[in-house]
Amino acid sequence: EEQARNAAFEQRIDDGDFIEAKDWMPDHYRKTLVRQISQHAHSEIVGMLPEGNWITRAPTLKRKAILLAKVQDEGGHGLYLYSAAETLGTSRDQMLDALHTGKAKYSSIFNYPTLTWADIGVIGWLVDGAAIMNQVPLCRCSYGPYARAMIRICREESFHQRQGYESLLTMMRDGTDAQKAMVQDAVNRWWWPSLMMFGPADKDSPNSEQSMRWGIKRLSNDELRQKFVDATVPQAEILGVTLPDPQLAWNAERDHYDFGPIDWSEFWRVVGGDGPCNRERLSARVKAWEDGAWVRDAALAHAQKRATQAAA
Ligand code: ACO
Repeated sequence: EEQARNAAFEQRIDDGDFIEAKDWMPDHYRKTLVRQISQHAHSEIVGMLPEGNWITRAPTLKRKAILLAKVQDEGGHGLYLYSAAETLGTSRDQMLDALHTGKAKYSSIFNYPTLTWADIGVIGWLVDGAAIMNQVPLCRCSYGPYARAMIRICREESFHQRQGYESLLTMMRDGTDAQKAMVQDAVNRWWWPSLMMFGPADKDSPNSEQSMRWGIKRLSNDELRQKFVDATVPQAEILGVTLPDPQLAWNAERDHYDFGPIDWSEFWRVVGGDGPCNRERLSARVKAWEDGAWVRDAALAHAQKRATQAAA
């Protein structure tokens, strides 16, 4: 019977059906989704920290309002994604516990520091640009609740990307030489970590094959990375910055840009907890959780009081 259920499931995947929360699904499919969606949720929440660092120091009221809205959007993305993961039978407490004890992964990119205001523009342009490239195909993910969450997230993400690029254009067109140098320096520091966001090369990606067969991932890590490089090089030219890769060159035969080797030892070090800001990020999240205990206690006490009143 298990075999028949599996075959029917695979058939639905092949037919391009969306799988919904109450549908039967193989254990491994469920586990893969909980892993990916919860990591994605954690990334959104941890991703609020590097930019939150600049809210009090944004150069104008307009930039401050934009940054506040963006960081708030990221909190919202985390909440949709935790909810999508909860439909698979995991609890938010379990997921947060995994994050706080260092068991759960989140995107490597958020373990790098934001040293200057230009970093905020570059995060919008490159980091959110990479995120969109990775996330647009997830709108067609075979698991319905995840796919639907991704549609709204991608719309907001595209606003984030454009505000970043626009803020860099302003600095590059109207800025002082020092401001232009600041943008170039930020690009130099964020370029390679942005390419690492797409994950290990396909040949070193243990989850890709099964996730692609199940329609969780629609494009492979390397395919998405290439699409990102191809889209970004012309944007860098318009901006007037140099991408820090001497091997970056158009390859007419492949119809793509070639690019230099990625430092995978740095990637695995950061994923393994030893990046420039891993400890700081995790302790900020744990502190926020502990400082919020009284709010959770009060909300629970209030809900209990109302339930008792309703029963009486
Ligand atoms: N940072 C941290 N860990 C990573 C990264 C990264 N950039 N890329 C891959 N990994 C981890 C994977 O989670 C996996 O570990 P696990 O098996 O313990 O979960 C391991 O490295 C091997 O990678 P893959 O086999 O390629 O893993 P997977 O098939 O899950 O692909 C990917 C990784 C592309 C990140 C995928 O999970 C995905 O598309 N996730 C949704 C998008 C997302 O999380 N974005 C977050 C950043 S964008 C933002 O928040 C603004």
